[in-house]
Amino acid sequence: MTLLNRIPVLGALLGGPGPSAQPTLEEVMAERYRERTRPRPGDEAYAHLLDLREALAAAVDDAKGVWLDFGAGTSPYRGLFREAALKTAELGGAEGYSVDYQLNEDGSCPAPDDTFDGVLSTQVLEHVDDPDAYLREAFRLLRPGGRLVLSTHGVWEDHGGQDLWRWTADGLARQAELAGFTVDRTEKLTCGPRALLLLLRRHGREHGWAGGGPIGLLLRTLALVDQALPRAIDDYVARGYRELGRVEGPSELFYLDVLLVASKPA
Ligand SMILES: C[S@@+](CC[C@H](N)C(=O)[O-])C[C@H]1O[C@@H](n2cnc3c(N)ncnc32)[C@H](O)[C@@H]1O
Repeated sequence: MTLLNRIPVLGALLGGPGPSAQPTLEEVMAERYRERTRPRPGDEAYAHLLDLREALAAAVDDAKGVWLDFGAGTSPYRGLFREAALKTAELGGAEGYSVDYQLNEDGSCPAPDDTFDGVLSTQVLEHVDDPDAYLREAFRLLRPGGRLVLSTHGVWEDHGGQDLWRWTADGLARQAELAGFTVDRTEKLTCGPRALLLLLRRHGREHGWAGGGPIGLLLRTLALVDQALPRAIDDYVARGYRELGRVEGPSELFYLDVLLVASKPA
């Protein structure tokens, strides 16, 4: 451990990275679930995960019947389904999740056509080898009139684990239409400065800020505020840019996520 790691505030001032720790896989999974279900100010993606949870809650609030969480991981949004039953599907061996359907090697699900009233897909599309095949499989699994609620990234860091694709809101809508869906709406999540501040903080926490001059000082001040008052940036973003959490329409030019609500024609 370096001196900069031992003294975080000094590290921030000098532009060094913050402290590093090596959590176990179980701890990582538990934390991933906690962040998505109960985001806290100071979390890496606090405002973004708040926006995502809120948008998903609105999109599945009236869900009924049987839904499939397609690429469920820890299925962190299962608590949002008040009336519908939520089944889970995952790739074999994907971090040892226990699921209702283990997906075949080609990503297909061992369930008949028209099985589900809804398909939920959160932060999966950017990881799949073939987004078109994945969406066509979701389409096959849905009953006519069934609903797809899907979120994926707009502008976001390359987060590894086979992170392959990014979408604009219009691009995601077009991709869903190509697979046969009728698009009901798209929402841009965590937009403009609300997104920028999170991205800047993320970079600073990972790499520090090495540059000099007034801009370097500004960025190191941001890192210092983040280390001394870990909630401050999130409180500011939450209050000052609340209306940029969820936006429909063309006004916002960059955003961390896109939420798509679409349906299989009846
Ligand atoms: C970032 S995780 C998201 C997990 C969960 N949906 C969530 O919101 O926390 C991406 C998940 O997509 C799964 N995945 C990757 N390729 C897939 C495919 N072709 N079909 C279904 N799931 C896939 C991975 O196994 C992984 O669990």
